Amino acid sequence: MKSLSNVSLKDFNTFGVDVKAKQLISVTSEQELLRVLKDFYAEELFILGGGSNMLLTRDLDKTVLHINLTGIHILSETENEVLIEAGAGENWHQFVMWCVDRNFGGLENLSLIPGNVGTSPIQNIGAYGVELKDRFHSCEAIHIQTLEKKTFHLEDCEFGYRDSVFKGPLKDQYIITKVVFRLTKNHHSLITSYGAIKQELYSKGIKALGIREISDAVISIRQSKLPDPRKLGNSGSFFKNPIISEEKFKKLQKNYPDVPHYPLANGDFKVPGGWLIEKAGLKGFRKGDAGVHEKQALVLVNYGRASGQEILSLAKMIQKKVKEKFAITLQPEVNIF
Ligand code: EPU
Repeated sequence: MKSLSNVSLKDFNTFGVDVKAKQLISVTSEQELLRVLKDFYAEELFILGGGSNMLLTRDLDKTVLHINLTGIHILSETENEVLIEAGAGENWHQFVMWCVDRNFGGLENLSLIPGNVGTSPIQNIGAYGVELKDRFHSCEAIHIQTLEKKTFHLEDCEFGYRDSVFKGPLKDQYIITKVVFRLTKNHHSLITSYGAIKQELYSKGIKALGIREISDAVISIRQSKLPDPRKLGNSGSFFKNPIISEEKFKKLQKNYPDVPHYPLANGDFKVPGGWLIEKAGLKGFRKGDAGVHEKQALVLVNYGRASGQEILSLAKMIQKKVKEKFAITLQPEVNIF
């Protein structure tokens, strides 16, 4: 267990925002985690995973508990299926690469997503036609107050678009310690329906398609338009893609016939937030060191020394402009503290 006082969290959040925490405790085992939870009242703790889905806007007068539980194990396997358990503190992309290297299929479309394994179920991460829930078997979590250990199966998690029970009714109640994934060994179901993947595979002339090729294609696509947090601070998509009623969508389409859209099963439409922000004239906009990414307007970036407050002001300005132009409210995807 490591403990530091009055420490900068700059290296612990992918936005690279420089705020301070009263104390930072990093735990590397479940025993250490339980010990810290026993010693502290829940309200004194701020739980930190990979720091990839948060915007910190002020110093934290709290103890930050960094979940650094690692380890990857095969739990069981059949002829075509394997259950793999990964510690919450495992880096997501490195875990995906571990699976791809062993030809375990299912997570390749989720290559290069920043963050850790433990936070992946909280917002049901997704990209290029796959969501975490499609490969999720279960996760183990510890209740912050009662210290009770609980296993959550797929049906317990209430997964939705960038949403789960851990963001809703059980928010801030549990710490996820490990996640189990159900992956394939031979007969992989390769998801290449997403247009950008098709184009990438086509332009590379890929004929023999496997999970490695898909992972490589996803990595190329992401690298071509999403900024690498190690070089340019960001938190992936800052906003969710808004979901609007059919009536509202038809009106929008009348004015903007080229609006990209995805019809949903309930009759609503999902519209890309990046497109709305771009049409509002804000793609590439920059104020100080806070900016709208030049290649993907849904992503906000920190060019160096932007404060969390500056990034938040930019986000609010974007919401206002998009609302004025389209009467659509963008909801942040990242958690703001
Ligand atoms: N678009 C624009 N301008 C932009 C950005 C996008 O016109 O500046 C248009 C694109 O041309 C395209 C559409 O919007 O027609 C969708 O764009 P893209 O394929 O880049 O995906 P997205 O909807 O912006 C979502 C996820 C991403 C995920 C990609 C690929 C959300 C909030 N974001 O973005 O996830 O990688 O699809 O599946 O659902 C993340 O959550 O952090 C994230 C990066």
